[in-house]
Amino acid sequence: MSNENYIGIFDSGIGGLKTLEEIRKILPNENYLYYADSKNNPYGEKEEKELYDITKRIVSRLLNHNVKLIIIACNTATTKCIKKLRNEFSNTIFIGTEPAVKIACDNDYKNILVMATPTTIDSERMHILIDNNKKENQSITLLKCDKLANAIEQNNQKEIDIILKNIFKDKKNNNYDSIVLACTHYPYIKNKIQKIFPNADIIDGNKGVSKRVKYILETNRIKNTSKTKGKIRIIKTRKVKK
Ligand code: DGL
Repeated sequence: MSNENYIGIFDSGIGGLKTLEEIRKILPNENYLYYADSKNNPYGEKEEKELYDITKRIVSRLLNHNVKLIIIACNTATTKCIKKLRNEFSNTIFIGTEPAVKIACDNDYKNILVMATPTTIDSERMHILIDNNKKENQSITLLKCDKLANAIEQNNQKEIDIILKNIFKDKKNNNYDSIVLACTHYPYIKNKIQKIFPNADIIDGNKGVSKRVKYILETNRIKNTSKTKGKIRIIKTRKVKK
């Protein structure tokens, strides 16, 4: 294994590209192999077994390219599958993307709204994150954003607006001071959300992931020491049109 090998990264399409953008700010000389699994989007509405089989196949494909570590740039796949993937591929280093609940709590926001796919909201991990981080004077509201990631993946602005209108119907006057985007697709519509909640700070986990990647590369001594900008290779799966 050479330090010049790719870092593997995957998501159900374009969401993780925002994560990759953030990682490249501090690790520009690494080579990245990005797997955009648009064919299977949305992950957030899949049964656990199906999602695990999908992610397992992707991990095997990335390992065929000798990636030196794998970033799961997806909150849904991380909360549901990372434990099992770590057991199955015990020699592989995985870095996940967790809902940024800890960041919101550590920064002492009082009225926090967490937006995520239905699967992430219902996951055990989400509830563990809240139990471990929420202080007594903090309130956390969980919001299932059914179909939103898929509308973003399709770049269907009309559909995005309809979904936002519906999910925020009874939430506009709640004075949230922070909104956690716990799905890597949602930063694409940050401006739309900010417009609806102009006083809220909008948080995502991408900076945290990038710092973690740097730390793991350094502690495992697998950082690419090249002085030139690395390359990005993209593998994309597509839905078959019927
Ligand atoms: N981008 C993914 C996430 O962070 C999943 C979106 C989906 O496919 O449902 O949760």
